[in-house]
Amino acid sequence: MADQYAQSGEDKSTGIPAIRWEEPPEGPVVVLLDQTRLPAEEVELVCTDAPALVEAIGSLAVRGAPLLGIAGAYGVALAAARGFDVDEAATALAGARPTAVNLSVGVRRARSAYDAALARGAGGEQAAEAALAAARQLHREDAEASARMAEHGLALLDELLPGGGHRILTHCNTGSLVSGGEGTAFAVALAAHRAGRLRRLWVDETRPLLQGARLTAYEAARSGMAYTLLTDNAAGSLFAAGEVDAVLVGADRIAADGSVANKVGSYPLAVLARYHHVPFIVVAPVTTVDGDTPDGESIEVEQRPGYEVTEVAAPNVPVTGAGSGVPVAPLGTQAYNPAFDVTPPELITAIVTEEGAVSPVTAEALAEMCDRSRGV
Ligand code: MRU
Repeated sequence: MADQYAQSGEDKSTGIPAIRWEEPPEGPVVVLLDQTRLPAEEVELVCTDAPALVEAIGSLAVRGAPLLGIAGAYGVALAAARGFDVDEAATALAGARPTAVNLSVGVRRARSAYDAALARGAGGEQAAEAALAAARQLHREDAEASARMAEHGLALLDELLPGGGHRILTHCNTGSLVSGGEGTAFAVALAAHRAGRLRRLWVDETRPLLQGARLTAYEAARSGMAYTLLTDNAAGSLFAAGEVDAVLVGADRIAADGSVANKVGSYPLAVLARYHHVPFIVVAPVTTVDGDTPDGESIEVEQRPGYEVTEVAAPNVPVTGAGSGVPVAPLGTQAYNPAFDVTPPELITAIVTEEGAVSPVTAEALAEMCDRSRGV
């Protein structure tokens, strides 16, 4: 296929701070790059309390599983540092979105550090510092995990596709906008690009909130990758044309049996990949594996408001509330709008974490990988 859409240029992919902690004289804040405004504008959102962060999580100003974990941890630290009710903040943050398990993992990490400090006899200020240290640690660990996933993922791609010149299809957004580092699936594509082995990144637009078109294309362009955007429903013909060598996606929750919840539209790609004998690879940190969720059916899939489907806003900007966009369906139309779908393990070629690749995907192999990561 012609490469008339190829972009090239300098690699600037690492310069996007998706989240940071700041301590101006007025008191600590969590600063977010507002992802609802990308790529039109790079606008920061300053959260001075946990409710503001909860709202930012709900509106997807901050989003993507690993980043949700980091945001949840900073949210607890923020409530503690500003003297708010930490219990209330932790409960609200953990419940802000139901599917990405990283959110509750991050909240729990900071909350446990806070509680442990209090139990040791620390005052509120020291306990708040302990919560912040835990959030910062999670942030650092995510960056490290990201780099290791990129290495393992590229090694796997090279093994599965020895010819090089990978043409990778990805869905949703999984780069530095969702991570303390360079992301999950996108970090693997970026590693392939830097190694000169990425021929093309196919970017699904990811209806209805356009994370692919607005965010992945933004990150790919900044990285100087050759990338092409397609509508989600064009993926089938792309596979049929023999243009896809591998699919790389992230995950919001991986159940103990290896079922993967990820952005809605991932499961149809896995079905297509199987039909066309193309590897379907999931890239996620170990924190996304939830041993307490036994299988795919037990994963709670977030249902989003129908107006996200029945209305569109100005070009590149998602709708933010009922009536805020231009209707694309008759008034009163009901919409089915699950934010995620679940791919069963038998359709997944490999799950790549910072610990390496699990393939074939079985409950036993996943559990063994999680034990190794905990040093058990
Ligand atoms: O609804 P979103 O935009 O938060 O969904 C994000 C995804 O589905 C990502 O693919 C997933 O969190 C993995 S990110 C590394």
